[in-house]
Amino acid sequence: MTSYYFPPEFVAELRERVDVVEVVGDYVSLVKSGANFKGLCPFHGEKTPSFMVHRGKGIYHCFGCGVGGDAISFIRKVENLTYPEAILRLAIRCGLDVTPYEQRGQNAEDAQERQSLKKQLGVVLERAHEFFRRQLQRNLGGMVGKYLDERGISTTVAEQFELGYAPDGWDNLVKAIKKPADLDIAVQAGLIVKKDNGKIYDRFRDRLLFPIRDVTGKVVGFGGRTLSGAEPKYLNSSESPLFHKRRLLYDLYHAKRAIGEQNEVFMVEGYMDALSLYAQGIDNVVATLGTALSEDHLKLVKRYGDRVAVFFDNDKAGLAAAFRSLPIFLGAGVFPALVLLPSGVKDPDQLARQFPAQELREKLQDQVDLFDYYLAEQEKKARGRGYTERLAVLQEIVSLVAVVPESGMAGMALRTVADRLHLAEEVVLEVFGRVRHKGSFRKKDESQDLPAANVQTLSVDPEDMVLGILSRYSRLLQTFDLGNACFEQPISPIFVEQLKLGGNSTVDLTGVFGSHPQRDELLTLYSRLVLMNLPEEERDAEQALADCLKKLKIRYFRRQEQEIDSKIMDCQDTAAMADLLRRKMDIVNQYKK
Ligand code: UTP
Ligand code: MN
Repeated sequence: MTSYYFPPEFVAELRERVDVVEVVGDYVSLVKSGANFKGLCPFHGEKTPSFMVHRGKGIYHCFGCGVGGDAISFIRKVENLTYPEAILRLAIRCGLDVTPYEQRGQNAEDAQERQSLKKQLGVVLERAHEFFRRQLQRNLGGMVGKYLDERGISTTVAEQFELGYAPDGWDNLVKAIKKPADLDIAVQAGLIVKKDNGKIYDRFRDRLLFPIRDVTGKVVGFGGRTLSGAEPKYLNSSESPLFHKRRLLYDLYHAKRAIGEQNEVFMVEGYMDALSLYAQGIDNVVATLGTALSEDHLKLVKRYGDRVAVFFDNDKAGLAAAFRSLPIFLGAGVFPALVLLPSGVKDPDQLARQFPAQELREKLQDQVDLFDYYLAEQEKKARGRGYTERLAVLQEIVSLVAVVPESGMAGMALRTVADRLHLAEEVVLEVFGRVRHKGSFRKKDESQDLPAANVQTLSVDPEDMVLGILSRYSRLLQTFDLGNACFEQPISPIFVEQLKLGGNSTVDLTGVFGSHPQRDELLTLYSRLVLMNLPEEERDAEQALADCLKKLKIRYFRRQEQEIDSKIMDCQDTAAMADLLRRKMDIVNQYKK
């Protein structure tokens, strides 16, 4: 693959040409709403549209989860591309000539090398797969055939899934590959093990093999079930440039269409679970590869469908795994369902074998909300305990809710928490406010997306209002004194400086930000402002500006006051105490002014 470097002028031209509504429209169905277009946000689950696109400004923004930017950042996020990849994609789409920007030299060579290694790995994996499949055919009369029989895997299903068999012995695959260059590739593909002393041998021996494909259908690795009881029970390919367990889901390639059609996906833990369900006509199933659910896994399935049902083993470990996955789900704004297995049925595999297709489908609908179930378990744990234990439980739950990116959704979850734990909603909200403030569960870079503790309304933050007004009214911008504003977000003063450089709103700001090192942050902020309801008249805007600046000032001094208060609480020394009290007085006087 060729790599590219795009100069700012080219990016500016691309921005001119590209229509953000068309680009977004490929992924989101948009309807016109005033000057904007509106749709369901592709980056978090929602039922009422809060995702806005503004054609003229070339900007999108989601009022639910806070993401925003221009067409380039959109395509980057939705397709998981790098900045140059996104530009390339859009440039081709707009019919711009990209050949002058092809890169040669070291970087390009590195990229090319990686790409060609991946290609070679793919070829060797494909050939190994053929080899393993042939071995399965050949050994159907022997142990493998017997094993498939025992597990109720018909030859039709074995063929559908293109299962393979790695024969017993140390070098069956080694011999089949022969060529030293290919053997080296097979080592890198995690099929053959190379010891320090240079000796090589087959990784998979006497195992039934499940080929693992990426979303495009390419075989990238294998999961191997022992037939002899050897440890481990399941052995996967080792990690390679193509095989990343945390980014792959077994059978997603086959399931993705069904997931889209049914807008629902069943997530199971075992290859056999997926296979048995599929054999019974349940085709919207994927399995993790022996790792915990990751954010990447969830991103992968969310491209195709919204509703997720986890379907794990019917034991303590299965339930614990389901609960452990909750932060990942909630962090992506997904409230998954949990499929309940009838007692006595140990896992999805067994359920699929025990019931005829029609009945199986009904059983699969026996679902509860996983978060709700978790709450019920937590409530059980807290019942009859003292204050400290109960508060600890509440804090744990609430820190989990704090990862939910959409405030409306978090608010709903908190109401459920209050219900379940028989607490007043205010109590829960109070604890939530504190937890969120500490940011205990959220990652640092995300914690800035949301105003602290404001869960019930999506009211506009005064800081945003100030910035929004300044970006719309150039006269107010010109007379604005940065030294006077008590901004909280570090990006705000930078934004104002950029605005001043850009002059006024007739200039294309996305272009002005284009070359700034913090362009993504600036764009996200700008996209939020552009779509905000601002005062229509300059006189009102001026008044609102003054009001908001005052609010910011009060907020700033209140924070300082709180800090001093907590120092006063800890203070042992009288002289120091007097000093603190004086400082507190000063601050109070400042914001009362
Ligand atoms: P299980 O141990 O639940 O497998 O592991 P299972 O479905 O009951 O297997 P059978 O029915 O005995 O064949 C579930 C998944 O965890 C991973 C595999 O992906 C497996 O499908 N696993 C399990 C491993 O990676 N290594 C192991 O040793 C065991
Ligand atoms: Mn199992």
